[in-house]
Amino acid sequence: MRSHYCGQTTADLLGQEVRLAGWVHRRRDHGGVIFIDLRDREGIVQVVVAPEQKSAFANAETVRSEYVIQVRGTVRRRPDGTVNPNLRTGEIEVAASELVILNRSEPLPFPIDDEYHEVGEEARLRYRYLDIRRPEMLERLKTRAAISRYLRRYLDEQGFIDVETPVLTRATPEGARDYLVPSRTKPGSFFALPQSPQQFKQLLMMAGMDRYYQIVRCFRDEDLRADRQPEFTQLDIETSFLGEHEIQAIMEKMIRGLFAELLGVKLPDPFPRMSYAEAMSRYGSDKPDLRIPLELVDVGDLMKEVEFKVFAEPAKDPHGRVAALRVPGGAAISRKEIDEYTSYISIFGARGLAYIKINAEGKEGLQSPILKFLPDSVVNSILERTGAQVGDIIFFGADKTSVVNESLGALRLKVGQDRGLVSSDWRILWVVDFPMFEKGEGRLSACHHPFTSPKADTVEELMRDPHNMLARAYDMVLNGSEIGGGSVRINSSDMQKAVFNILNISDEEAEDKFGHLLTAMRLGCPPHGGIAFGLDRLVMLMTGASSIRDVIAFPKTQTASCPLMDAPAPVEPEQLIELGIRVTKAKE
Ligand code: AMO
Ligand code: AMP
Repeated sequence: MRSHYCGQTTADLLGQEVRLAGWVHRRRDHGGVIFIDLRDREGIVQVVVAPEQKSAFANAETVRSEYVIQVRGTVRRRPDGTVNPNLRTGEIEVAASELVILNRSEPLPFPIDDEYHEVGEEARLRYRYLDIRRPEMLERLKTRAAISRYLRRYLDEQGFIDVETPVLTRATPEGARDYLVPSRTKPGSFFALPQSPQQFKQLLMMAGMDRYYQIVRCFRDEDLRADRQPEFTQLDIETSFLGEHEIQAIMEKMIRGLFAELLGVKLPDPFPRMSYAEAMSRYGSDKPDLRIPLELVDVGDLMKEVEFKVFAEPAKDPHGRVAALRVPGGAAISRKEIDEYTSYISIFGARGLAYIKINAEGKEGLQSPILKFLPDSVVNSILERTGAQVGDIIFFGADKTSVVNESLGALRLKVGQDRGLVSSDWRILWVVDFPMFEKGEGRLSACHHPFTSPKADTVEELMRDPHNMLARAYDMVLNGSEIGGGSVRINSSDMQKAVFNILNISDEEAEDKFGHLLTAMRLGCPPHGGIAFGLDRLVMLMTGASSIRDVIAFPKTQTASCPLMDAPAPVEPEQLIELGIRVTKAKE
């Protein structure tokens, strides 16, 4: 049917006869001559049908947008003045001698040619096959494939072995809700879809596989955002007999190579490292976006004795924080915008947003609702410490440390974006020295996952002060997005049990849920560690897409459903009976 792709029909083929097949992107009638922009995966070519070609012309007259046609014709140079330098095929056109309609198309629910404008996401997902016909979407999926190809090739060359792990398995804790699959053969029991292959990849190290990787689907029933999907893809990796620095070096080299080859971008060698504590203190986030040149500055020590209780109390509280965020040029931010920022950060628990505007030199130049509560000496120290200049604004957060970090961290990003302060380069780093545990509701939970090794050689060392114990965990952060996370793992059953105990998992529960792992740890377990990258996030960043849904062929909506297949959907009563399941609460 075809000798060439439309998009690859270039001036190299001048004078030759070609056979093309594809979709009618656009048809124009020009005083007796019909022009068709014919499109396929590789691009668009202009086909010209003259009335002298009677049968081809008759067919061309009936052609509409998105008809699938086949064309035979000769490649010729476009007349002077009609060359399109923006198109790979822009120098030539194909003079058709035959035109066959392979299939017709009804009018589309939305245009996908040059007339395309932002269509609602529901419609895009319902007609995803149309959406993907758009060159922008096609390009993203091609880039995704190129990224996977590069990563596989690198890991293959480094001696990593691609192993598949089960999708029907048991719950493994990564901190989200599980997707469950009922068992027919064991009524009342359920498989869980893996939140990650974490335990399997560790077991593969215990099996002597030494270096493993897999591009693998993971499932997490959690609240969705622009960079989260209920099913997403990890590049999952595990190694034996390597420490964190060696693992990081191999992974850095892979990401550096990927960016150089696909984007021509040179990332630093080595990647900078920042401790979790420093990231929280300077950026209020464990995934700092270093493209934004704004930083949080502690001012708690200046506030302990001030009469303004909102500041003095958290300043004196060991779990409190008072921090300032200077925005250069921010004195221009209006009262209304400040109110909007205040309500924006209230989502994160902030109870207010105090500020000082520096409109001019001297005390009279300051404008602020809190000036009356602060002695001149404190105000001067704040100005000095934050480096404030005329024309700036300083925002303040005072509360529990976590509330201040979250709210000022989020404000930093928002103000940075609103005021065009985000530089256009690539800023990558490792965040290291994470705490081992974080405080959940009343009890400790694992900061990474419970298989992560603490920075302790013995159980005694761990038990001395678990609250302040650091973990051998690391995240790779790119432009404010966590693209990967991993750790060196626990490899002794005693240490693993101690960590479970701290997490309030009793020995019996540990034996029931993780007995296989604990046993394997006693049967010859090498030191091991690894990492998993969020492939969708990486592709999103590398293609400049604004949502991971735009780099997944068939993603779920914000409400975790698929409008194309109309999933999830009710099932036949017989199926439920077979599974021993009764639905007690169905949505109308
Ligand atoms: P973690 O939970 O950090 O680690 O996941 C690894 C990476 O996967 C991506 N990611 C997601 N991407 C899209 N949608 C989601 N819902 C989603 N959740 C996570 C992130 C993240 O950095 N087993 C460990 C890895 C290890 O220790 O080796 C794990 O899964 O980019
Ligand atoms: P008030 O005296 O409560 O009106 O607060 C004076 C200023 O402090 C206002 O600008 C508030 O937005 C701000 N403010 C109140 N609580 C906090 C807080 N926890 N952190 C930062 N600013 C606050």
